[in-house]
Amino acid sequence: MSRESIVQEKITAYQPKGGLIQSSRLFLALAGINHESTKNHVENVALLAEAVAISLKKDAKAAFFAGLLHDIAKITLPAPLFDGHNITPEEYAQIKKHAQDGFNALMKLHLFTSLCAGLHHNLYKSGYGVTMEDFPKKLNELRLKLLSQLSVMKVSLKVVQQFMVSQLSQL
Ligand SMILES: [Fe+2]
Repeated sequence: MSRESIVQEKITAYQPKGGLIQSSRLFLALAGINHESTKNHVENVALLAEAVAISLKKDAKAAFFAGLLHDIAKITLPAPLFDGHNITPEEYAQIKKHAQDGFNALMKLHLFTSLCAGLHHNLYKSGYGVTMEDFPKKLNELRLKLLSQLSVMKVSLKVVQQFMVSQLSQL
């Protein structure tokens, strides 16, 4: 079974609330038009985040969907930015907007996805995206819950990075 099919089956099997089945499928379908690298990336991160969450006895469902949706705003950016060329500082500045843009666009529409989009690059000290000061205080409890899930995703992202480094070292 292909990775794409596995991901699609998991989207259905988890039966998430809040329209996440349709949101996830819409995102993957749109990403598949011009952003194949982003589609591949989020499918990999979703599966890795889920696996890490299971091993850490965390919420595998939340980790899966956080991994799947964290880069949702990349499809609003020009596809050539992700074709693997050496990007310029100006292009990098453009790419970095996907975190804040995703957060802003989805804040009132879908909080879970908005937080995943806004926070996933701020997990690192040198990261970017939104800060905790961007959130209304009443969302404290939810943001803490989601942050615990995003910490699982951070581990998964590191696994992806280490895998890529190990592959590159073999070239
Ligand atoms: Fe990202």
